[in-house]
Amino acid sequence: MIYLRGNLGAGKTSFVRALLQCLGYTGRVKSPTYTLVERYEVSGLHLLHFDLYRFRDEEEWEGSGFRDEFDGHNICLVEWPEQATGLLPPADISLTFEILQDGREVLLHAYTAAGQQCLNAL
Ligand SMILES: Nc1ncnc2c1ncn2[C@@H]1O[C@H](COP(=O)(O)OP(=O)(O)OP(=O)(O)O)[C@@H](O)[C@H]1O
Ligand SMILES: [Mg+2]
Repeated sequence: MIYLRGNLGAGKTSFVRALLQCLGYTGRVKSPTYTLVERYEVSGLHLLHFDLYRFRDEEEWEGSGFRDEFDGHNICLVEWPEQATGLLPPADISLTFEILQDGREVLLHAYTAAGQQCLNAL
């Protein structure tokens, strides 16, 4: 579970696009702003990209079946996780994007042993 934090335009979607391309995905990577989630299968991984900026309705969450997706096998990257506080599982890793005059600064933080293992491997 990877939380992507940062203001509008900070580079969250761009990061997910780059990550998917690095994994070998050659299709189009759309921002899930309206769909809330886009799903990808690449390099034997199931990856879900959420953008919860427009998410408001907790009942919609229960009806969406998202809870079943958080099964510990899917890799979930979540933009605007603060929109679903209490609904999302806790993060293994958070990436916080800051807009600088020239490019971006990204702060990586691990919260679990699994998250720490990923960061150690970088
Ligand atoms: N590392 C970077 N350096 C310079 N420009 C960048 C970088 N990452 C993203 N951008 C540019 O910033 C713009 C917005 O990026 P992006 O859509 O990834 O933001 P976002 O954080 O997903 O925003 P939102 O919260 O609206 O979904 C794009 O035009 C992109 O090219
Ligand atoms: Mg985005």
